Amino acid sequence: MTDHKSEAEQRERIQTEVHPSADLVCRILAKQIADLIHTRNAKGNFCVLGLATGSTPVRLYRELIRLHREEGLSFARVITFNLDEYCGLSREHPESYWRFMHEQLFNHIDLPAAQINMPDGLVPRGEAFDSCRIYEEKILAAGGIDLQVLGIGRTGHIGFNEPGSTRDSRTRVVTLDGLTRRDAARDFLGEANVPRHAITMGIGTIMAAREIVLLAWGEAKAGVIAPAVEDVPRESLPASLLQAHPQVRFLIDEAAAAELTRVKTPWLVRSVDWTPALVRRAVTWLSLELKRPLLKLVDEHYAEHGMADLLVEQGPAYDLNIRIFNETQHTITGWPGGKPDADDTHRPERAQPPQKRVIVFAPEPSDEMLGMGGTLARLVAQGHAVTIAYLSSGNLAVPDEEAISAADLILGFVGELDAATRARARRVRERLCAKRANLALADDAETRQLKALLRRGEAQAALQVLGVPAASARFLDLPFYERGRYRQFEAGEKDLSVLLALLREIKPHQVFVTGAAQDPSSVAAVCFSVLATALAEVQKEPWWRDCRVWLYRLPGKTWSPYESDMAVPMSPDQLHQKAQAIYQHKTQRSQMPGPSQASQEVWSLAESSNRELARQYDALGLAEYEAIEAFARWVERERPRT
Ligand code: GLP
Repeated sequence: MTDHKSEAEQRERIQTEVHPSADLVCRILAKQIADLIHTRNAKGNFCVLGLATGSTPVRLYRELIRLHREEGLSFARVITFNLDEYCGLSREHPESYWRFMHEQLFNHIDLPAAQINMPDGLVPRGEAFDSCRIYEEKILAAGGIDLQVLGIGRTGHIGFNEPGSTRDSRTRVVTLDGLTRRDAARDFLGEANVPRHAITMGIGTIMAAREIVLLAWGEAKAGVIAPAVEDVPRESLPASLLQAHPQVRFLIDEAAAAELTRVKTPWLVRSVDWTPALVRRAVTWLSLELKRPLLKLVDEHYAEHGMADLLVEQGPAYDLNIRIFNETQHTITGWPGGKPDADDTHRPERAQPPQKRVIVFAPEPSDEMLGMGGTLARLVAQGHAVTIAYLSSGNLAVPDEEAISAADLILGFVGELDAATRARARRVRERLCAKRANLALADDAETRQLKALLRRGEAQAALQVLGVPAASARFLDLPFYERGRYRQFEAGEKDLSVLLALLREIKPHQVFVTGAAQDPSSVAAVCFSVLATALAEVQKEPWWRDCRVWLYRLPGKTWSPYESDMAVPMSPDQLHQKAQAIYQHKTQRSQMPGPSQASQEVWSLAESSNRELARQYDALGLAEYEAIEAFARWVERERPRT
């Protein structure tokens, strides 16, 4: 997107490169790091790298490992300094950054252990100050950091420099922000297990690096990337302080760029090609921004908001207003599977066949309820043959306490006679109890199986609330998930063949799926990419010609009225029923972090998200509904339709 550079410069205070995928960015950056190592080493110097943890750099590390293995890149003369570490975790703890870095990078390259530096999270409180000072001295002694890699937290933190960190802060012990701890809750299986403190390099330490690269992927980061790049720098948004660095770049994917002015409202910063989609976006934006219904916009409103050329080209306002009003109106339907026997010229779904075969993919149990519970209920009630395909078992998100009480239940229920079952339940129980003392223990297959069963039960209970027959559910338990851990998932041929088999068996007319814009390391994004590969493989098969793919999104990230191709309204009762269905996912209560709300439970987050969307349609001057679920039609980079 370099062609926007001059306009972008008007607003963007940090050089920001937007790329189509995280993998591409990581290949480019890994190559730059390799070049830097060569250049530094050729001059007889060590190369000093500042490294980050989190999902974001995982792909970069994979690519560096590949360069080491396949292209002989050596780290023998590299020194690394990590940004941060949680306080109080042993090195072996599954979530310690020490373990993360070794598993993700250090164990796979020829970097000598003596050249690895990480803050010591186990240092006694009384010695922490000295330990932090020594860390700073070590960086100086190594000659300073040549290149610092950063991710970004949703509070805008870099390292663990939470909002309020000063620009000259140095390595120190910090208290973690509530949102940061909620974001980490999943990894730690509950917010209560997330450490409250961490040691982090300071903003001043980071700013002293000669070059800085910040990486960000996925829709969850869009809301923080835009202000960091475009707003006046302030300590309440630590990443924005990077604006003062002479050699800083943000390398981000399209989902993380979504809130940048040049992407969200490009007509405000450059002349644009007024495609139908952009016109709808701009006119809807104008209406929502001015809080005036679409049909009440006048020429001046357009002219004063960067759309004078649109008026000339496609105006006047009266025509544009009616056009966009009608277009938006046509996306609203109570018949998500198509309305049989109705004229479908202006409906989002076709009338034929009247009963469709539908697959609703849920990356993890409950995603389908959160994103489209109301629509799912309608599809079933309107007689479509709906299969709900649970792609992962979701067992990683089950807190140990839930599994222990399930094991107790089994022990109480089976009685003395069923020795084999008792033994299994005991083993799981003992292992989970042992985990309390030794958090480094990972769940074994048996434990994961029990946890998966809990989630299956919840999924079935939720379907029952919606009146969906139990037989509609398929639990696919994709192998990538059963093998993996958060951040370390890698899908393969086996996952693909499971999906291909299901698609070929059902030959769906409609597919509903989520995850397209999420962090590529997330379960949903991994699932989406397997499905996208599967769909690419079936393109020549006759049924595919008659199949539509609809993307749903999770609460807090719903499609806007201008992005949605199908909006399905819900009555108050239907919304209540959806919330009740979500409520059945007992192990997930208070588990999933909301986007910004303090401790909003997921069902109420779903309710408010769907209500907010309905409010927007109302504000545009369309009918006033209680709640709406929105879907965008997936046209894979304008996939060829035969
Ligand atoms: C943690 C780390 C940060 C990281 C952030 C984002 O808070 N201390 O260094 O940037 O998480 O994590 P992720 O990359 O998983 O989104």
